Amino acid sequence: MKSKLLKIVSIIIVFSFIGCSNKKEQNKVITKLDTPLGLENLTQYIPKDNPLTKEKISLGRDLFFDKRLSVDGTVSCSFCHSPLLGFSDGRYFASGVFGLKSKRNTTTLLNRIFAQENFWDGRAKSIEEVISEHIKDPNVFANNLDNIIKLLKEDKKYIKKFNNAFNSDITGDGLVKAIATFIRTLVTGNSPYDKFLAGDKNALSESAQSGLKLFMSDRLKCSVCHSGPNFSDEKYHNNGTKINKENPDLGRYLITKNDEGMGKFRTPTLRDIGRTSPYMHNGSIKGLHALVDFYNKGGEKNIYKSPLIKPLNLTDSEKNDLFNFLRSLTGTNVYFFGYR
Ligand code: HEC
Ligand code: HEC
Repeated sequence: MKSKLLKIVSIIIVFSFIGCSNKKEQNKVITKLDTPLGLENLTQYIPKDNPLTKEKISLGRDLFFDKRLSVDGTVSCSFCHSPLLGFSDGRYFASGVFGLKSKRNTTTLLNRIFAQENFWDGRAKSIEEVISEHIKDPNVFANNLDNIIKLLKEDKKYIKKFNNAFNSDITGDGLVKAIATFIRTLVTGNSPYDKFLAGDKNALSESAQSGLKLFMSDRLKCSVCHSGPNFSDEKYHNNGTKINKENPDLGRYLITKNDEGMGKFRTPTLRDIGRTSPYMHNGSIKGLHALVDFYNKGGEKNIYKSPLIKPLNLTDSEKNDLFNFLRSLTGTNVYFFGYR
């Protein structure tokens, strides 16, 4: 009798122990995201009040593809930031609810964990801020969090997933945090360029190797602005992108109200650039051949253009080399493999 009781008690102890260790696995904070080759030395920015956990990533991924975010149920994040197009949309200008056009080209969402300021003009200091603005923006979702939460509460899957991720009911704050967390996991590296740097001399063709030298050279100056492993100094420049004369987009000036910011935009990453045409804040350049021609002629004239942008006098074979180098920056998106 005594031994039977002992057995039952020990079974209870063992089971509650397993229960405890499962709880520990749940919501375990990932302090540093595993990144593909080439991104090891970049600082990762994760807000203190929104640490990475698997549960949030998983919830954020579901919400990213959910059209219930938009006021008319037609648009999800992925409608403009498509995984197949380097998380952009192939359009000159983004198109949101009711087909309304946004005034800028859609940015990629790759490697945002390595940056602090968001949008072409840097007006959002966090990805959380971007999402809150997008939800209200009449040209994006034209919605509000209360509407969305009401709909999601009818879905058992979300009730369970919010509970797993936040130990709470469905909330607007949780929704924004989960999506932002998912975005931070979208990274691209392990490109032919990274493999070449890591010692695989066959990873780049001879032409792409010549293009790399040109890119880094004092003659072309590309790497002054497109610097470091993510090919961005995260600063604002006017690179001579064509301006619409009737309705010019003043870029950084709109935020700083300082003449110095006229027509400046944040230097974009060049990773996966082969997937995200058309280029520039206004989608004015289609394809990498046109892009190389644009820089070769020293951009379009305007009085605020950076002195770093000048005609380059590239030969046809140099243009081809630069093109091949830019194409070698397309990597492996961890999105497709990890953190499912
Ligand atoms: C209607 C198209 C559209 C939809 C839908 C959309 N976006 Fe965007 N997104 C844009 C455009 C356009 C920009 C650039 C706007 C600007 O710079 O002024 C942008 C910029 C961003 C940025 C800034 C990236 C950077 O490099 O600065 C992030 C992050 C982002 N979006 C995330 C999201 C998320 C998450 C969702 C879903 C909640 C979403 N977007 C839905 C069009 C869209
Ligand atoms: C003065 C800084 C600067 C220099 C030098 C520079 N760029 Fe840029 N680059 C930018 C900025 C800023 C943008 C975005 C401009 C805009 O949207 O109006 C940009 C955009 C691009 C884009 C399009 C990215 C996208 O997602 O739309 C590519 C590709 C590019 N640059 C390649 C190059 C190459 C190649 C060189 C050298 C020939 C070069 N850049 C020199 C600042 C610079």
